[in-house]
Amino acid sequence: MKHLLGIDALDKDAILAILDRAEFYVRALQEKDWDRERLRHKLILHLFFENSTRTLISFEMAAKRLGAEVVNWDLETSSLSKGENFLDTIDTLCAMKPDAIVMRHSEYGAPLVVAKRAPCPVINGGDSWREHPTQALLDALTMRRHFGTLEGLCVAIVGDIAHSRVASSNIELLTRMGAHVRVIAPEILMPEKLPAEGVEKFSSLEMGLPGADVIMTLRLQKERMDTALIASDTAYFNEYGLTTAIVDRFAPKAMIMDPGPLVRGLQMSDDLAEDPARSLILKQVANGIPTRMAVLDMLVGD
Ligand code: NCD
Repeated sequence: MKHLLGIDALDKDAILAILDRAEFYVRALQEKDWDRERLRHKLILHLFFENSTRTLISFEMAAKRLGAEVVNWDLETSSLSKGENFLDTIDTLCAMKPDAIVMRHSEYGAPLVVAKRAPCPVINGGDSWREHPTQALLDALTMRRHFGTLEGLCVAIVGDIAHSRVASSNIELLTRMGAHVRVIAPEILMPEKLPAEGVEKFSSLEMGLPGADVIMTLRLQKERMDTALIASDTAYFNEYGLTTAIVDRFAPKAMIMDPGPLVRGLQMSDDLAEDPARSLILKQVANGIPTRMAVLDMLVGD
């Protein structure tokens, strides 16, 4: 593995190897015992063309926990605002010879373009609605840690499936690892084609939730909608928002996940998001660090 551009390029063994390495770092972080110099003298360039809280900070903390240094490129102050084009910016930054690039971009496949020109590993921190591989890996680690295995798990993904890179990467990873995946969305947010076979489509919570072990909600990705596809947030919440009452009724044993950012009152009710017995949301965030440590270790370490 030279780059991490998407789950699409990983087979079951490669996914397992990353998850096992991430598990190693979960324990190492708990015991405060790991090689803090593993990436000493490595310089990692963060190229985030889209906003981020979790992914950016998590990559930075993971890099620093391994002794690497991080340079954060800033779109606002970059020469792109002076008229330089994207590829010239990339070639300029690559000429400075970073040891790795972690990037996020709104254009479909942008990290693939950069990987062809870069002198170093490129890690996709999310591109367009295509892929967000480290999110799917940290979600998988969270599920595997909670349930012991991904094999046979029933995961219902609810929300804006059409515009979500988190949905795409999760669908690919989970089906490859033997989980059953369902997607639940209004027709307008349900893509015709999904990135894997065998995924069941539902248009209501009532039909899609029974039997789910995990319910994963997704934000309405309004920045990727050409027009307002959803008439009102309230109407959406009334039909697709998760509440304690709905989970109690249709999938009482299910655990709740969301990649964040959580838009209060849109994906789920506050009490559900904060229910420690049901919500894995902050565990997902925490697992982002060992997952990204594993990826950096495997791709950037000598
Ligand atoms: C997601 C993203 O940016 O793709 N967030 C994340 O990385 N944790 C999901 C989103 O923006 O809704």
